[in-house]
Amino acid sequence: MAGKPWSGRFGAGTDPRIEEFTESISFDRRLFKQDIRGSIAHARMLHHVGLLAAEECQQIERALSEIEAERESGRFAFGVEREDVHMHIEARLIEKLGDVGRKLHTARSRNDQVATGVKLWAREALGQIDAGLIGLQRALVAGAERHRAVILPGYTHMQRAQPVLAAHYFLAYIEKLERDRSRLADCRKRLNVLPLGAAALAGTSLPIDRDFVARELGFDGVAANSLDIASDRDFVVESVFVLTMIAEHLAGWAEEWVLWNTQEFGFLALPDALCTGSSIMPQKKNPDVLELIRGRAARVVGDLTTLLVLVKGLPLAYNRDLQEDKEPLFDAFDTVQACLAMAAVVVEGATLRADRIAERLDEGFLDATTVMEFLIQRGVPQRSAHEVIGRLVGLCERRGLQRLADLADADLAAAHPQLGPEVRTVLGVENAVKAFRSYGSTAPTEVEKQLERWKQALFQ
Ligand code: ARG
Repeated sequence: MAGKPWSGRFGAGTDPRIEEFTESISFDRRLFKQDIRGSIAHARMLHHVGLLAAEECQQIERALSEIEAERESGRFAFGVEREDVHMHIEARLIEKLGDVGRKLHTARSRNDQVATGVKLWAREALGQIDAGLIGLQRALVAGAERHRAVILPGYTHMQRAQPVLAAHYFLAYIEKLERDRSRLADCRKRLNVLPLGAAALAGTSLPIDRDFVARELGFDGVAANSLDIASDRDFVVESVFVLTMIAEHLAGWAEEWVLWNTQEFGFLALPDALCTGSSIMPQKKNPDVLELIRGRAARVVGDLTTLLVLVKGLPLAYNRDLQEDKEPLFDAFDTVQACLAMAAVVVEGATLRADRIAERLDEGFLDATTVMEFLIQRGVPQRSAHEVIGRLVGLCERRGLQRLADLADADLAAAHPQLGPEVRTVLGVENAVKAFRSYGSTAPTEVEKQLERWKQALFQ
């Protein structure tokens, strides 16, 4: 029974089976540093308001730093009898300081303590994810530059649609990751509000100074309602949602590159060092990293789902269910961080097979929409222009011609009087690309501007 903070009320010790079932130390040990940091700030505040003597505060700070050093050198022992990281650290403090250590939990509950530790952890983690996003964006910019001369077939419905510059393609993912960065920053605003001081659920009758703690810990403000604080895990769900969006972006890209890496597409060359082979088929070279990035998104979606179901229907204020928030948070973070790093490695190592791509660029009538726009510019209503070019595509197919450009001048003119020889300026994939002009399009000048903008933003 000894050692439990609640032993005063209890007539018997905890059944070891219950300890085993209710522990969180096996995973919340990851909050070790954050708990120490929170406790130091809390002790300083207790001294600041006169609840701890200067000497006591110093002793606590010193002992907490020693405990951190014990942990770092692997001398700190964990066990389920002490349930979680918070009770481990406090118990060790009391072992070291006796009654002075017994004062640290003044005006504090594990409920607000846990929330503070998780917030400190998540804040740092989101910072690391942001760095991972920037790293991948840089790799994508380099990819755009390396493949400046390449034109790709763009797809809708996985059918060849219109030509796009390879640089435009790489920049598309940079934009997605930039939205992820913006979501991270936005999530951080709501996250970075101090819970500590809510105590168990109602606050405290002791004269604490929560703003002091917020300043010590770098929070932008102090959460305003103790009942809300004790139950709030919005920041965990939101953080994992942001991580999920990143995982989804990576999964879409990975799927695309798995396809591009097939014999059928032949768009992408991956170095041997980034691939794996088969134990039975000697010729195989597989893009397993991309498949795993795609696959691991499933875990992250699972983590988000776990959290959403976990908080659903929970009454105010703290409920022990909330202990289950940490593993999905940690897992989503670990998974996405690793995937971002691997994605950068693949982007840096991969090469678009310009020859193979160019060889088949005449398939799929990629210039058809631009030719239609040529007619629109000459006053033909869009619906009519669409029909005219559609008929020409049909004519090519019937005659076994691969390109609109293979039609004779007479065929073009017969389809519409505005389709004079001048139409040849937009026929063919290269001409079609040059014809683009709108902001955000694959127009070479626009893409150059965007690429410049990203180079400035990411490498300055
Ligand atoms: N280990 C628990 C957690 O991580 C701490 C629970 C504290 N509160 C309580 N009333 N038991 O959530």
